[in-house]
Amino acid sequence: MGRPPLRPATIATWNRNPADEEAMGAAHAPIWRRMVDVSVPHDLSASTVLDYGCNQGGFLRLLYDNHPFKAAVGIDIARESVARAELLKGHRPIQYRVADQAATLGQTFDFAFSHEVIYLLPDVAEHARDIRQVLRPGGTYIAAMGCHTDSSLWPLWRKLIAETSSIPIYDHSLEDVSKAFTDAGFGVAVRPLSLDAFMQVTTGSAYFPKVTDQLRYYTTDKVLFRFVRQR
Ligand SMILES: C[S@@+](CC[C@H](N)C(=O)[O-])C[C@H]1O[C@@H](n2cnc3c(N)ncnc32)[C@H](O)[C@@H]1O
Repeated sequence: MGRPPLRPATIATWNRNPADEEAMGAAHAPIWRRMVDVSVPHDLSASTVLDYGCNQGGFLRLLYDNHPFKAAVGIDIARESVARAELLKGHRPIQYRVADQAATLGQTFDFAFSHEVIYLLPDVAEHARDIRQVLRPGGTYIAAMGCHTDSSLWPLWRKLIAETSSIPIYDHSLEDVSKAFTDAGFGVAVRPLSLDAFMQVTTGSAYFPKVTDQLRYYTTDKVLFRFVRQR
């Protein structure tokens, strides 16, 4: 008897509260900017790009507006968020699709990105194999991850996020993720996000009880993995 499939069903929105889903893009924009600044080579005009777990599509819009690419696809299991992404994309050469397996797109990409999606995946090894199938040899996957068991805020955040997420949350360590991608045939590198901006202090915030929590999270705990497909 094999394991039952881990495939999640599609959902309406990831956040149970659609208004909070709507607000997520604005909150993530400074982080997306930093991801792009530290990981994107300047000219993407001949490149194709995947955003895994794109939600309302803001990352690819920001990327295109700063580094125009040839074409991109954003996938997500949240139907209403993907529909919103399609509405918002304007003239940009982007397709947004409801999907959880990149390989079902039947396309290959030069670059892939994800921002805070891996902790929502039950099987990181399967995700690594999926991304490997769609990246060209030498292609790069940048995955941003602050939600992992090596963050000292994780026990707190796990509870808070579980109250808002419409799907389960998983406990992956940075080692688990590194191993899954190494085993799938990627060269694995990592760096801190190191947000280089003033951050609005939100005294007494549920997510950052102390100012030092916020500083440590954005300088140390939140990391960018760079996975490069070997042959
Ligand atoms: C925390 S949100 C981050 C969204 C977006 N990357 C951002 O930076 O704002 C996580 C997203 O991952 C999506 N997601 C979760 N599991 C997924 C899966 N198996 N396949 C595709 N998307 C998934 C959720 O629906 C949600 O939109």
